[in-house]
Amino acid sequence: MPLDLEIIESTAAMQARARELRATGKTIVFVPTMGFLHAGHLSLMEIGREHGDILVASIFVNPTQFGPGEDLEAYPRDMPRDLALLEEVGADIVFTPTPDEIYTPGFQTYVTLEHLPNRLCGLSRPVHFRGVATVVTKLFHIVLPHAAVFGLKDYQQYVIIKRLVKDLGLDIRIIGGPTMREADGLALSSRNAYLNPAERESAICLNQALARADQMIKEGIVESQAIIAQSAAYIEAHTGTQIDYIALVDPETLEDVARIDRPVQMALAVKVGSTRLIDNRRLNE
Ligand code: PAJ
Repeated sequence: MPLDLEIIESTAAMQARARELRATGKTIVFVPTMGFLHAGHLSLMEIGREHGDILVASIFVNPTQFGPGEDLEAYPRDMPRDLALLEEVGADIVFTPTPDEIYTPGFQTYVTLEHLPNRLCGLSRPVHFRGVATVVTKLFHIVLPHAAVFGLKDYQQYVIIKRLVKDLGLDIRIIGGPTMREADGLALSSRNAYLNPAERESAICLNQALARADQMIKEGIVESQAIIAQSAAYIEAHTGTQIDYIALVDPETLEDVARIDRPVQMALAVKVGSTRLIDNRRLNE
């Protein structure tokens, strides 16, 4: 059966196709990914389909957003399966560049933000958001979307992309998609593939800690420190966990909030075995 999904590997071909679509009055919605697609990615594709005529996905494991010693080489990949899933979900085009196509010889220009990356995940992953901001800006210039969909699962990334679009004056609407979860609440992530059965069991403590914090606030606790301390104790009671951070922050500036007298974003990063997992939730809506 012939594929309806159009596969484009080169930057020039993708840009030319996007220009052609725009010239015929089509609106383009874009969902960038690093592949190894799961139901979380596919939910963003579904959202994307409703916001424009042509759905473009990208699959690119972006080397510049991995720090030294991180999992760039080990990052799970399965292109044939990804293409079948994109076909199934009704994507029109998938852009699958090689690293050389994005990072041409002599590459030295990066997109950096002043403040938002110096918090939460940025503290333990110092080059990560520079890599994300740079590749997303490049992809935006290649795919030329009218709108793009990002998962709220990576909340800091979502806030950073919204900020960069505003700051650079890009005419692209950024849409946030809700976090898809396993039946027991674990947020779907390509990195869940690294977990052994015992780690997989411990991993549910991230979402459970967020739910417990939600409950604490509903019961009247207003001090962030109290919530963070109780969440830390809860997570540490699960074998193989090591907390990177637990934070209650302003949903836009990502600055710490000491007293919960307005909506806050609770975000956490926990190593389970050697796998670093993140999750977050809006509290006190
Ligand atoms: P990746 O981790 O592949 O994620 C692609 C998109 O899927 C991101 O917007 C992410 O937030 C979203 N996503 C991941 N897990 C999700 C879940 N459980 N529910 C809903 N959405 C989820 O994020 C990246 O790739 C990269 O940093 C990228 C933006 C592609 C730049 O390289």
